[in-house]
Amino acid sequence: MNNEQQIEYWNGAAGERWASFQPQLDAAMAGITPEVLSFAAPAAGERVLDVGCGCGTTTSLLAQSVGPSGSVTGVDISEPMLKVARTRGINANFLAADAAVHRFKPTHDLIFSRFGVMFFSDPSAAFANLRSAARPQGRLAFVCWGPLTDNLWATLPVEAARPFLAPQPPTDPHAPGPFAFADEKRLTQILQTAGWQRPEVRPLVSVMRMGATLEEALAQSLRIGPLARVISELDASTRARLSEAVGAMLERYQSSAGIALPARCWLVSARN
Ligand SMILES: C[S@@+](CC[C@H](N)C(=O)[O-])C[C@H]1O[C@@H](n2cnc3c(N)ncnc32)[C@H](O)[C@@H]1O
Repeated sequence: MNNEQQIEYWNGAAGERWASFQPQLDAAMAGITPEVLSFAAPAAGERVLDVGCGCGTTTSLLAQSVGPSGSVTGVDISEPMLKVARTRGINANFLAADAAVHRFKPTHDLIFSRFGVMFFSDPSAAFANLRSAARPQGRLAFVCWGPLTDNLWATLPVEAARPFLAPQPPTDPHAPGPFAFADEKRLTQILQTAGWQRPEVRPLVSVMRMGATLEEALAQSLRIGPLARVISELDASTRARLSEAVGAMLERYQSSAGIALPARCWLVSARN
């Protein structure tokens, strides 16, 4: 998908689904969010840009960290998600813009993102543009997904559903999308090309909490991510059998804390 298609995607059914699943998605990422925030270490008085801020959860947490003497701007291309963000009483500015090309003021101490920077069609140019939003010595800190094979929350639902789907064409592993930065060497090169100094990529082993109950976990697996796109094209009986197979897989990961599947992320930092 190029940037135009991403804008269409995040403003269409996918953006609406993300907006409606915001509480569940935040719960799913509950293990990851404190890690990336402590890694980014927003301090009182700092100016922060939250890239691909979505429904504003991290924007809100960043605003609490920087306090009244600081400021936070959340930027996103998705109107449905920004609409949610704007109704949550968050003490931040929300900007509807393409972070890859928007002309930001070079005032930010911290350029932050929770899973919002993997969708650029020209990542080096986009990260160079984000660097232009940082003040001299300003820092970049974000979390993105590591290798697909270590992210069972993403692969296992698709594996379970595969018998019910038409063969899928092979995909370009570097194409814009959640796993675009799985290759840490490529990611480091992108940041260097964009002019960021001292890029560092650190693994974070965590889980995605798919739901407190099997029903919740199943709804999330079918409505968000790769299955959401293909499932609507299936007839009702195939969809029911697919749903049963995905449910049976999720059940294996059930514990008293709900259903959690292994996840592996990269915590990424660099300096302007
Ligand atoms: C996986 S979601 C993450 C949302 C949010 N950061 C969170 O953690 O809940 C990716 C977000 O990036 C946004 N996004 C994608 N491309 C973008 C771009 N070029 N400029 C700004 N936002 C973008 C999407 O609209 C979406 O809100």
